[in-house]
Amino acid sequence: YAGPLQSPSERPLEVVLEGLRRLEYRGYDSAGVALVAPGLDTVALAKKAGKLANLVEETQSRRLPDATAGIGHTRWATHGGPTDVNAHPHVSDEGRLAVIHNGIVENFAALRDELLADGVAFLSETDTEVAGQLLAKEYRRAEGDLAAAVRATAQRLEGTFTLLAVHADHPGVVVGARHDSPLVVGLGDGENFLGSDVAAFVSHTRSALELGQDEVVVITPDTVTVTDFAGTVVEPRAFTVDWDASSAEKGGFKTFMDKEIHDQPQAVADTLLGRTDAAGRLQLDELRIDESVLRTIDKIVVIACGTAAYAGHVAKYAIEHWCRIPVEVELAHEFRYRDPVVTEKTLVVAITQSGETMDTLMAVRHAREQGAKVLSIVNTHGSTIPRESDAVLYTHAGPEIAVASTKAFLAQITATYLLGLYLAQVRGNKFPDEIAEVLTDLRAMPAKIQTVIDRGDRVRMIARWMDSKSVLFLGRHVGFPVALEGALKLKELAYIHAEGFAAGELKHGPIALVEAGQPVFVIVPSPRGRHSLHSKVISNIQEIRARGARTLVIAEDGDDAVTPYADEVFRVPEAPTLLSPLLSVVPLQIFACELATARGLDVDQPRNLAKSVTVE
Ligand code: G6P
Repeated sequence: YAGPLQSPSERPLEVVLEGLRRLEYRGYDSAGVALVAPGLDTVALAKKAGKLANLVEETQSRRLPDATAGIGHTRWATHGGPTDVNAHPHVSDEGRLAVIHNGIVENFAALRDELLADGVAFLSETDTEVAGQLLAKEYRRAEGDLAAAVRATAQRLEGTFTLLAVHADHPGVVVGARHDSPLVVGLGDGENFLGSDVAAFVSHTRSALELGQDEVVVITPDTVTVTDFAGTVVEPRAFTVDWDASSAEKGGFKTFMDKEIHDQPQAVADTLLGRTDAAGRLQLDELRIDESVLRTIDKIVVIACGTAAYAGHVAKYAIEHWCRIPVEVELAHEFRYRDPVVTEKTLVVAITQSGETMDTLMAVRHAREQGAKVLSIVNTHGSTIPRESDAVLYTHAGPEIAVASTKAFLAQITATYLLGLYLAQVRGNKFPDEIAEVLTDLRAMPAKIQTVIDRGDRVRMIARWMDSKSVLFLGRHVGFPVALEGALKLKELAYIHAEGFAAGELKHGPIALVEAGQPVFVIVPSPRGRHSLHSKVISNIQEIRARGARTLVIAEDGDDAVTPYADEVFRVPEAPTLLSPLLSVVPLQIFACELATARGLDVDQPRNLAKSVTVE
């Protein structure tokens, strides 16, 4: 933050702490701020291990001096444990320079040796302090030109970084550099902002600038100057944030996750909105890939991580069925570091809520280097992955704050349906009226999701009673990725051993885990769909029940065949099989959220995790 000299002098600290609060989901094992002001010889520094609340307490108990500019950071530890000392900012130049950093400086050991040889003493174990000390050296070399020093430093750092710096000699200035890690500018009236995500400043301004790769930005209260690493001025792209601060508030819910589960009907409805023309044909103009190119695609590879990868698994069933194009789904980090076969006829689909996941970004770059076209499905405007893709389909889930993804997952699945139907339309795989029929079914889904949410009490009650140390999840066909996602939610939030299996695989090993009282969630397909699938899952339930399992069954309204085999049935409205994950996953989300809450755990910020993982 850089504000005017005569502003209320607490504003820099307030703005920075509020920004950190809004970004805390990105990492929360320690936090810190550094402030500069005219007349101060050194930067004022406060940093604390643990959640942001510890830092806020520190800044209240030890009044920091009035200031005009400040930087703040909330950390997800890479080099060095989460201690006060390892927390950012890191100071150098005799306490006059402070830096914060996201990413990993890969050549930090070599740089550290160089600086040690210069006689520099290090306080922390972090790569960031190495960057800060290097910046101090470059600052002396640049004779006090902070921007030039940041540019010189950026050119020497290898790895990924967003680096922000303030110096006591420049009390109204913040300088930032980015390479592979996110950084956006917020334009205020007589004050300007920087953040790794617009959420940091959206309560002050919705007017923003996107920074490109390898750029340095200097903000003062009245100016924003962007250059490349060589110092040539570049024109950043302006954009307006299309949501306001209230969308990123809890709105009466106890947790963000609870709120985001309730946002899901809207997230799906918004993702569907405006994507058909007057004749009811799908229109995805924003895709920017020529229809003739889409007609030549002979393979689709979906790459993603975590929950987004499970959205990809659902997409495989739908797209292959509708388009008859083979679809592979692979974790981005595995795709990147083997030797995947992709050609200019491969469409790579990258799914990511944040648009910043480093594993996914690296996979996107690799795919493009191999000549593939990359289409990304992204929730966050202004993020890196859409900028580096050939085309983008935005999900309109709104900001997702809870670390464990819910509404973004449903919006991602919805977007892949749109993509599948669009490809079927362009390639003539389906008759227009068949596509229109699926679209009609899709438009009915938000109300059905709402029904599942409204029926949440029973699953909440079961969650509160659950005392098991392990929960299994079974599903077939599209129910399989739902089982995987249900297990992931429980691991993330409740730290309980949970595993999802393809129900047919059970007899090939996992059934050995089943003993008396073992809770097993089973996602039962519609009896109206491919009948064999329904009866096969019923057989699987009988197999585990015979071995003492406690069966928690998710089944369609009116499916009475499951009742005799279920200890509990959670009902979802009727829906076509391919669309059913939008419903069947919801009770599993509610279950994990409630179980973790009942155990007194922080569902929005589970231990060891971060929402946007910008390191590989
Ligand atoms: C992190 C989060 C997960 C998320 C994954 C992918 O690991 O903790 O909840 O699913 O990243 O995130 P993305 O932003 O790429 O969808």
